[in-house]
Amino acid sequence: MDMTEADALRAALALQIAWGADEALEDAPLDRARPRPAAAPLAAATPSVAVPPEAAAPPARRPPAAPPARPLRAALDPGAVLAPAALRAADLAAAADSLEALKAAMQRFEAALRDTATNIVFSDGVAESGLMMIGEAPGADEDRLGKPFVGVSGRLLDRMVASIGLSRERDFYLTNILCWRPPGNRTPTDAEVSLFLPFARRHIALARPRLVVLLGGTAAKALLGAKEGITRLRGRWHMLEVEGLGRVPALPALHPAYLLRQPAAKREAWQDLILLRRRLDAGRDGGG
Ligand code: URA
Repeated sequence: MDMTEADALRAALALQIAWGADEALEDAPLDRARPRPAAAPLAAATPSVAVPPEAAAPPARRPPAAPPARPLRAALDPGAVLAPAALRAADLAAAADSLEALKAAMQRFEAALRDTATNIVFSDGVAESGLMMIGEAPGADEDRLGKPFVGVSGRLLDRMVASIGLSRERDFYLTNILCWRPPGNRTPTDAEVSLFLPFARRHIALARPRLVVLLGGTAAKALLGAKEGITRLRGRWHMLEVEGLGRVPALPALHPAYLLRQPAAKREAWQDLILLRRRLDAGRDGGG
């Protein structure tokens, strides 16, 4: 589904109204639809992404070459006593030289969660888009359909990103830290997150995004190695160091499932979206 400028504006308006922004705050209207300079091809740009609603040409594809894998064992906590399963996950992830190989490796990896899940949930969207969003773990709908963010919170995510002119069919790539659903949709344990982290890091290295959005505290804390919660991490760009890829700007943002429970946090969620949109626009205008 390609999104026209009018679709994007309607989506932005619908989200604003649904979120309760039904008062005009400025005396003068702000023309967000004014023509902007043409998009620079994403793959060739400085670390930024640009697929504006009004210039909907797909970004140039990145070369498919896989980055050389530095053994992901090096990224494991050096102080930790590592279980054989963690070492095996790191080795399997490092050996994968394509997204298909990574998915196959994750499918092979013997994890307790695999036995209780129905389908592997690997990814959705456009791997070469230059923008990668990473959530926590599949829920029941994702487990049934084998795709990330297809349930209630996924639909909210689609509406949120549509309000800044993005669609998963064209503009970004989507995955989770865990590829298997934790039974009963429980929050993954720290041990489960650590076990799957080498796969998530390798997933980023192979997709080679220019920008990453970390949806929720689990993804943000795990990938940034942070102790703070999402409410402290969000609101600014961080640098993510990825083996075989280098430094990638990463934006921690509130998870749509959190917004469904805490509607008052929509203000912060909107700020996260604006930060992302600005970065996309800055990249397209030649900035960073
Ligand atoms: N929540 C997530 O973090 N990921 C999904 O795929 C669905 C819900």
